Amino acid sequence: MIATPFSERVGLAVPIIQAPMAGGPSSPELVTACSAAGALGSFGFAYTQPAEMQKQADDVRAKTGRPFGINLFGWPLPRDIADNAQRESLAAVAAYYAEMGLPAPEPVRAPYGPDFEAQLAAIAEIQPRVFTIHLNDLPADRVAALKGRGIVVGASATCIAEAEKIESLGFDFVIAQGGEAGGHRGTYARDPYEALTGTLALTRAVVRAVRIPVVAAGGIMDGAGIAAVLALGAQAAQLGTAFISCPESGAPQPHKDALLAAREDITSITEKFSGKPARGISNRFMREMNARGAAQLAFPAQNSVTGKLRAAAAKAGKPEFLAMWAGQGLAMSRALPAADLIAQLEAETVEAVRRTAALLKE
Ligand SMILES: Cc1cc2nc3c(=O)[nH]c(=O)nc-3n(C[C@H](O)[C@H](O)[C@H](O)COP(=O)(O)O)c2cc1C
Repeated sequence: MIATPFSERVGLAVPIIQAPMAGGPSSPELVTACSAAGALGSFGFAYTQPAEMQKQADDVRAKTGRPFGINLFGWPLPRDIADNAQRESLAAVAAYYAEMGLPAPEPVRAPYGPDFEAQLAAIAEIQPRVFTIHLNDLPADRVAALKGRGIVVGASATCIAEAEKIESLGFDFVIAQGGEAGGHRGTYARDPYEALTGTLALTRAVVRAVRIPVVAAGGIMDGAGIAAVLALGAQAAQLGTAFISCPESGAPQPHKDALLAAREDITSITEKFSGKPARGISNRFMREMNARGAAQLAFPAQNSVTGKLRAAAAKAGKPEFLAMWAGQGLAMSRALPAADLIAQLEAETVEAVRRTAALLKE
């Protein structure tokens, strides 16, 4: 798929992919460090305007000639939001704004995110080595156009039907995103709560269903996890949570601290931060808003409803109002520079593969 130094060093043609992480963690520093170390660093540019996409890509290219990836969300932006929906969603978070000493939240206005067409035009311009789409697919002619520019194109699938569709549209590879995964569920063709198959079952099922390469994602935190998905037939492993606590990641410090303090799976799924189901460390905001069945706006407009609250919480070091996306393996987080983490992941993978091979009797 994508050549990495690993294949030269240890004979493992297995890229480790640092997951694209929208909203801060996948900073240019993290992407650069991952790519320079031989993994594929990836930007999560879901909420990033085209000019900023170009700037951050240039930043990486100024520091490393190694390939990197860019990811976008493909979910269509909502057009009009009714006044009463606005009022209800603002009222649902007003007490939290007051508790943080913030002025009352204001009505949110369209557009609720960057223009996808303009972002896609920026991808064609930037020509990253890899482009992936989350929360949708792309028509075959657009996939072909990106491939024609030398870009390797992939998409997330959370069920077999999505994986088969992605293959039929001409994508180069599919990411099997298991239910353990941190961040937004990439589900777009099914009810996301009915597409929560774990990484083990999903990876194997997708490998059996499609002929294109499969990248496994969700709950993979060390080399044993990488070796496990290779045994299932994946050709690469995508890790998100494992990289959030790296010093190069742009995640707020309370998010990193909470990951490193976790001793078991303390995550759950909520729609209350963004309007779409995403897995993160359970906190007061998630618990209370979920329990009340609080009103929310459609994705991604709800991000604007909670935006100032999240920003103030990050500044004040208050994890209770932060969206701390994390996968179920979070208790295995380590605070290592990305290059050291990648070197350890590589050594652990080799060790796990050797250990498994040693089970074979002569
Ligand atoms: C903080 C965070 C942000 C994420 N943002 C994105 C994103 O912008 N685009 C995307 O395709 N996946 C995103 N993901 C999901 C990852 O691509 C991947 O599926 C997930 O990290 C794998 O599970 P893990 O976190 O257990 O390693 C995000 C994950 C996290 C933890």
